[in-house]
Amino acid sequence: MGVTLNDSVAPKTTAYLRCSAGDCGTTLDLHERALACPKCGELLEAVIGPDHVDARELKRRWLERRLSYAPHNASGVWRFREFLPGDYPQHAIVTLAEGNVPLVPGRKAAEWAGVKRLWFKHLGWNPTGSFKDLGMTAGMTEAKFIGAKAVACASTGNTAASLAAYAARAGLTGRVYLPAGQASANKLAQALDFGAEIVQIEGSFDDALETLLGKSDPELYFLNSINPFRIEGQKTAMFELLEQLGWDPPDYLVVPGGNLGNSSAFGKAFRELKQYGLIDRIPRIVIVQAAGANPLARMWSSGAKQLLAVEKPETVATAIRIGNPRSWKKAVNAVTLSGGLVMDVTDEEIGDAKSMIGRDGIGCEPASATTLAGIRKLAATGQIDREATIAAVLTGHALKDTDYIIEAHGPKTRRKREPESATVAVQ
Ligand code: F0G
Repeated sequence: MGVTLNDSVAPKTTAYLRCSAGDCGTTLDLHERALACPKCGELLEAVIGPDHVDARELKRRWLERRLSYAPHNASGVWRFREFLPGDYPQHAIVTLAEGNVPLVPGRKAAEWAGVKRLWFKHLGWNPTGSFKDLGMTAGMTEAKFIGAKAVACASTGNTAASLAAYAARAGLTGRVYLPAGQASANKLAQALDFGAEIVQIEGSFDDALETLLGKSDPELYFLNSINPFRIEGQKTAMFELLEQLGWDPPDYLVVPGGNLGNSSAFGKAFRELKQYGLIDRIPRIVIVQAAGANPLARMWSSGAKQLLAVEKPETVATAIRIGNPRSWKKAVNAVTLSGGLVMDVTDEEIGDAKSMIGRDGIGCEPASATTLAGIRKLAATGQIDREATIAAVLTGHALKDTDYIIEAHGPKTRRKREPESATVAVQ
């Protein structure tokens, strides 16, 4: 195809890391290998910005890149590269053509929830079936760029699957720390298929992350969402969503909350898009947690200033069975900036919402269905106007947790289960 593209990017005057605590002020070189501020210990964030932006021209260029098969244009993350870290050479980008996923109207789901204008942004329709791929292409590109030999994460399953795939793509060793017996078999299978080393930790996701962060192996590059490069990749989901809505922001953006990296990323996206004049207002961010793993929702409703971890998180939505989310301060900033809120929903509400998303022919994993359950609750109590435009983020594919579906549909559909595989090490 004879498409010619103007690929000159806007000159970047700004590209560094800074402490995410507003009053600290510590900055670091962009490629410094750090996850926390060396002065105060808070998480870091990337500060990236073109010199100046011609909004119309930039939006045109982003769309034009969809006509190109060049890997850095075919990726729905890297086509927004003016707002991404690092002037990586094209060949250095580790990509599986992630992003560019559709925005699907919810019909039965909208009716069930009592609202009129509902869209699902299905990030589960990414290469490994979850939104993690958007962050992983950015994180893995940086890992490779700075010469890491091995990459690792703790995970409830999806980050593990994504890390495993992108590590394989990059030719790096991937190692994933999973809470033993708690990640879905489907996600574990993906990580195995992509050749990652699996370490099962007795305890929760929080224990697995604690164990991993305790390792001081200079060879190991950390790819949990506390890694600022992951957040940068994930934020492009909102660039794409707004492009699909003709740059007319929805009234609400509803997202599940676990370790709270994704909601932080989306808040950052809106902040930057508004700052550069690409949108004129910021959607209200609604974070929905599962009632058994709801530390931020508790904090929000009590008005507390500090997060109290949930000691034993428990929910059928295993992806968000997290009691001590690391990015909670960034997430609070995102919700506050947008005039949004944080809430929780029960496992039963999650199950009902998941079935309705299924009836729309869309499907998702249980954690993603917290969004529709939350919308229904807000509409029922009049906190969301029935006429409001709402974008709900579906974070994982329906096939990510098939055991849940089989169980939910009753005894007749249950298969006899095989004994657990002995191929994985338990720590
Ligand atoms: N939805 C799904 C399907 C997830 O896998 C996760 C997180 C979330 C929502 C929550 O996102 O942590 O950014 O608030 N999964 C992580 C993992 C923790 O290890 O796969 P978050």
